[in-house]
Amino acid sequence: MHDPVLLKTILSNFSPSPGNNFIDCTAGEGGHTIPLAKAVAPNGKVLAIDADSEQIANLKSNLEKEKIENVVSAHGNFKNLKQITAENSFPPADGILFDFGFSSWHIENSGRGFSFQKNEILDMRYDPTDKSIPTAADYLNSASAQDLEKIILEFGEERFAHNIAREILYARRKKTIETTQDLVNIVLEATHSRGKINPATKTFQALRMVVNNELEIIKYGLFAALDVLKPKGLIATITFHSLEDRLVKGILKEWAKQNIGEVVNKKVIKPDYIEIKRNRRSRSAKLRIFRIL
Ligand SMILES: C[S@@+](CC[C@H](N)C(=O)[O-])C[C@H]1O[C@@H](n2cnc3c(N)ncnc32)[C@H](O)[C@@H]1O
Repeated sequence: MHDPVLLKTILSNFSPSPGNNFIDCTAGEGGHTIPLAKAVAPNGKVLAIDADSEQIANLKSNLEKEKIENVVSAHGNFKNLKQITAENSFPPADGILFDFGFSSWHIENSGRGFSFQKNEILDMRYDPTDKSIPTAADYLNSASAQDLEKIILEFGEERFAHNIAREILYARRKKTIETTQDLVNIVLEATHSRGKINPATKTFQALRMVVNNELEIIKYGLFAALDVLKPKGLIATITFHSLEDRLVKGILKEWAKQNIGEVVNKKVIKPDYIEIKRNRRSRSAKLRIFRIL
């Protein structure tokens, strides 16, 4: 199973006890959901949300293995947190967790082209059942050069964004872009790069963010959380890159100014050396915690 990032710190801050209720907005396979559910049993519950129905199936199978019965799982986007909570008649929560982005399962098993390390169809949607969302390939084959350059620069912080956007246009005139390998070839052609990091890393990140509208949705999710928390309830957020972290930090700071609550950890919390050694994915994680009034 996915190794849950900063689990001990989340648990020590949430201090879950029997009868409490928590919401995990990004449940994945249940790395955080399951320990929370165990701690609040028998009368407390966890509402476990994930946009990916396959992840909800993975979660359910893990819950069965662990014989856990106090988790309400919901396939949905956390931008609709209020609605999902109401539909499930879930009580005001003691704490809400957001562990943003994708999980290792997406890279290793989803087959949706989240990584340049595997040659797969470029889909990148967390929720492929939502046909209103264009796939990464749809976006690459239809966006204007200006839009491509803008998102690669903004979401990928990629200095070769201009060249990559031009190369995408050039490549798609010859052949529809379909696979991760198609995109890797385009980026290699555009950057002639021989750096340590694969030159496609930033472009893949940008594309995933635009396909899933990630930054915009973080805002919706955080604001919705305010409405479904108990007084003195906690919001914990784990981000994985500077754009997400800057956005969350700004919102929490503004809330503190408006007296909506207080930032619990003045300094951002990061995994220690031992966790990073065990779980490389955690190396860029940043945890922020906010308590409402
Ligand atoms: C980092 S993983 C969570 C891992 C989980 N905390 C664990 O330790 O097992 C993020 C999960 O959030 C889901 N996700 C991403 N964006 C979402 C959104 N807007 N709404 C709901 N789920 C989302 C992804 O499908 C993924 O399964």
